[in-house]
Amino acid sequence: MILVTGATGRIGRQLTTLLVAQGARVRAMVRDPARARTMLPSAVEIVAGDYRHPAGFATVLADVEKVFLLQVPHAGMVTEQRAFLEAAKMAGVKHVVRMSSLGASPSARARIPRVHGVAEKQLESVGLAWTHLRPSFFMQNLLMHAPQIASVGRFALPTGNGAMGWIDTADIAAVAAVALTQPGHEGRAYLLTGPQALSHGEVAQLLTEVLGRPVVFEDESGDEFVRRAVAAGMDAWMAEALNELYALVRAGLAKVVTPTVSQLLGRPARTMREFLEEHRPQFQSATD
Ligand SMILES: NC(=O)c1ccc[n+]([C@@H]2O[C@H](COP(=O)([O-])OP(=O)(O)OC[C@H]3O[C@@H](n4cnc5c(N)ncnc54)[C@H](OP(=O)(O)O)[C@@H]3O)[C@@H](O)[C@H]2O)c1
Repeated sequence: MILVTGATGRIGRQLTTLLVAQGARVRAMVRDPARARTMLPSAVEIVAGDYRHPAGFATVLADVEKVFLLQVPHAGMVTEQRAFLEAAKMAGVKHVVRMSSLGASPSARARIPRVHGVAEKQLESVGLAWTHLRPSFFMQNLLMHAPQIASVGRFALPTGNGAMGWIDTADIAAVAAVALTQPGHEGRAYLLTGPQALSHGEVAQLLTEVLGRPVVFEDESGDEFVRRAVAAGMDAWMAEALNELYALVRAGLAKVVTPTVSQLLGRPARTMREFLEEHRPQFQSATD
């Protein structure tokens, strides 16, 4: 039995679909089973569970051999993971494939790679086989800007000319499926990127070509980004966390591309142009 956490999220949904298609027995730990039932393949066993409620972990983990562990970063993430990993060990889990991030390290300057770095070390220390997936920025993050791009043809972030090795979440889910179902991935950390490093300005240029009308990227200050994000409802910890990451992007530290996705999948990683063309309707205005 493979347990998928974060199963209703961007990666989890694609991963459960891939695993079921391969004939794997899949259980999803979800916070809202009724909602999850409408989102996941019928062959997925759905069990209620929440990282904040350790009392439910034994039920969630019964008979589980492998776990896809995905947590949303926040200040209490590592504490929640500790309780979950202890329960996993008690339940006889053999291998945990963990969603981490580019640059994960306990000494990272930005808090998201830092909490992922601490969580990786914690996983390594509990005595379960582990695999760390460390993806770069998701192409799907661009969908947050799609309404603005559709309506006014502009979007802003505090990343300057900094480039990133954008990756499609479909490729991350495919790598996770390989690590969970094929041998030889224990004790490995995979830095996962797409095939090209692109700045937001270069993405805007590609969008201009794909949509056939101008799309402009505007650099903004970190303070302006935090103010805007909090006003739009983002919690302050996450707004500051993203601001810290964007500062590293601006400094050129996210300009990393690896061949790992194509090596693990035996096919090329998806390109930004493929992603934008596939999602063109979301970026289009009524008059496009
Ligand atoms: N975005 C990026 O560019 C990027 C880059 C590198 C790494 N990452 C990492 O990728 C991960 C996010 O992946 P994603 O985009 O697939 O996530 P996502 O779409 O935001 O989904 C988050 C999932 O976690 C579940 N969840 C939230 N809180 C929970 C809790 N307390 N207990 C149990 N489940 C909970 C959500 O369930 P509900 O449906 O109940 O809300 C949902 O299924 C994070 O670890 C992030 O650091 C992201």
